[in-house]
Amino acid sequence: MREKPLAGQAALVTGANSGIGEAVARCFADAGAKVAINWVAHEEATNAIVEDIKKRGGEAIGVRADVSNEAEVQAMYAAAIRAFGTVDILCANAGLQDDAPFTEMTLQKWNHVITVNLTGQFLCAREAAREFIRRGPRPEVSKAAGKIICMSSVHQEIPWAGHANYATSKGGVRMLMQTMAQELAPHKIRVNAIAPGAIQTPINRSAWDTPQALRSLMTLIPDQRIGQPDDIGRAAVWLASDDSDYVQGTTLFVDGGMTLFPGFATGG
Ligand code: BGC
Repeated sequence: MREKPLAGQAALVTGANSGIGEAVARCFADAGAKVAINWVAHEEATNAIVEDIKKRGGEAIGVRADVSNEAEVQAMYAAAIRAFGTVDILCANAGLQDDAPFTEMTLQKWNHVITVNLTGQFLCAREAAREFIRRGPRPEVSKAAGKIICMSSVHQEIPWAGHANYATSKGGVRMLMQTMAQELAPHKIRVNAIAPGAIQTPINRSAWDTPQALRSLMTLIPDQRIGQPDDIGRAAVWLASDDSDYVQGTTLFVDGGMTLFPGFATGG
């Protein structure tokens, strides 16, 4: 891969002040992109990441928006475009879990997860596509007129008891991504997804913060290690770069083999 595969491009990463989003933002910056770091809480964490990126010679700004709020998403794009001139890459990453056993799943919990994880990706991707089409291709920086990367999950495929809202949101992300890819390809826009497995971040702390939990998690991961945020950041750089120019409508699983039915390694 070229040393700065995203040089001259502007990226917006949602939910970028912690976890996977932060790693994607930092990897994008290291790959030469200017980065708009979307956040909704913890401004101090955002500022620290922006400062860090600048110290490393990159360009970054923080942009606050609740991704499930249409007006705030539009204002966020306006701010990013004001700062960087345009947006070339969206990584729609913001997401959360609000778990409950199915019979105790309140409508509030259901809506909370669906509106952030699924409607939020719709709103952010729609604004990105509008900007890509308005602006048209910039062949000096990329073959595509724009790139959208949806952060999905292994749970777009793997059913997940106790997490009906979350698994459904990711199943929805898969179909949203594929439909956008089909519809936007004629505009030279590439749309793909990353499906992370268990990545060591605050969202799944209970799955790794005791030796017992970690042991039990390892039974689900053929590679026998928990993923790190950078595993996803590096994949995102590749999907955003021209090195993946012929990749369209695909989900890249970055999961240490979690989707390989590990129970069948010895059974069946
Ligand atoms: C979830 C994590 C979980 C992982 C693997 C992710 O999408 O957010 O909590 O550890 O999937 O099950």
